[in-house]
Amino acid sequence: GYQWITVDKVTQSIGAKIGGVRLGGDLDPDVVSEIRRALLANKVIFFSGQDHLDDAAQYEFASLLGTPTLPHPTVRGNEHAVLPIDSDHGKANSWHSDVTFVDRIPAISVLRAVQLPAYGGTTVWANSAEAYRRLSPALKALAEKLWAVHTNLYDYVAERDEKRIGGIDVKEQAYRDEFASQVFETEHPVVRVHPETGERVLLLGHFIKRLVGLNTHDSADLFNLLQRHVTRLENTVRWYWSPGDLAIWDNRATQHYGVADYGDQKRVLHRITLAGDIPLSIDG
Ligand code: SIN
Repeated sequence: GYQWITVDKVTQSIGAKIGGVRLGGDLDPDVVSEIRRALLANKVIFFSGQDHLDDAAQYEFASLLGTPTLPHPTVRGNEHAVLPIDSDHGKANSWHSDVTFVDRIPAISVLRAVQLPAYGGTTVWANSAEAYRRLSPALKALAEKLWAVHTNLYDYVAERDEKRIGGIDVKEQAYRDEFASQVFETEHPVVRVHPETGERVLLLGHFIKRLVGLNTHDSADLFNLLQRHVTRLENTVRWYWSPGDLAIWDNRATQHYGVADYGDQKRVLHRITLAGDIPLSIDG
């Protein structure tokens, strides 16, 4: 049909810039369909020049793509479904999909730049459907048999900046305590069938504690082997945030990583999270 928006790929495997649209709660349904199609095809999409958006308008726009849900089950202060990703709370500098430790993993995240450092602070996304497609038949067959235990009480220290062991500050510790004030733990298939595209995706990321039925060493080795296929550089896209930027990612088909390369500068982005389904394995 008629093309209302422009879609320019950023890499072959993942990411596209969308132009020709001023985001808000009043978008034409045809434009919303095109945005959704671009999202499913490219996994993460980027909008620039959306400086007019505030939390309320971001919320109204996001509601056109799904049902906003509490961005996080334990963190306070996001009753309006807007979660500040604030450098004072720590940095999301390890590979993950959002909130995989609940049964119904959020489907889509909508992230808006609010306060940016003078340099650094990019975000990198990886395509977990392409990662599955590139596995050898033998590894696909193995991955399809695996299930993983996901929890919010994961090993922060193992995943993050080792220099900070024993040295995280009070605000960050308080946020972590809140993040894990109620422990969630659930099992998901390692190979998930995407409910909208039918693609098989690798469902991994930093909330995994271990693989079901394997000892900790085998769990770690297999996790790292599969995760390496997700995060290979050719399978990623990196976004250099500017004021007025907004990114939307398919949380069912991506992982992301907030690069912690901006020192002590303040960085704030606001995230709205849309409700998703219980992941299905290839056996349904
Ligand atoms: C997130 O993990 O949701 C945000 C990533 C970032 O801080 O760039």
